[in-house]
Amino acid sequence: MAGAIRIAHLSDIPEGEGRLVEAAGMHLAVFRTRAGVFATQPECPHRQGPLADGLTGTHTIMCPLHDRTYDLRTGAGVNTECSITTYPLTVGEDGAIMLAAAAG
Ligand code: FES
Repeated sequence: MAGAIRIAHLSDIPEGEGRLVEAAGMHLAVFRTRAGVFATQPECPHRQGPLADGLTGTHTIMCPLHDRTYDLRTGAGVNTECSITTYPLTVGEDGAIMLAAAAG
């Protein structure tokens, strides 16, 4: 994938968990669920809870501080008016997790 940045490997993130990763000068929360891998902003918009330490569902992440839950596919709040930024990922045949470079 042209312009993509390697940010982690599948082996770095056990299924059902999240990890805080740093790549290209930015921090991301990266999650591996039964549905695939997802990346979001690292902190919850409510009071900066560490999303990478939250509880994952198939397509959701629950903040560890006050249980606000977000859809990992869209960033939309499930039980809150808050929303989070998500980032598109791809996984290579070798298991490399790649972040699409910003357009422009
Ligand atoms: S900091 Fe995440 S729900 Fe409050």
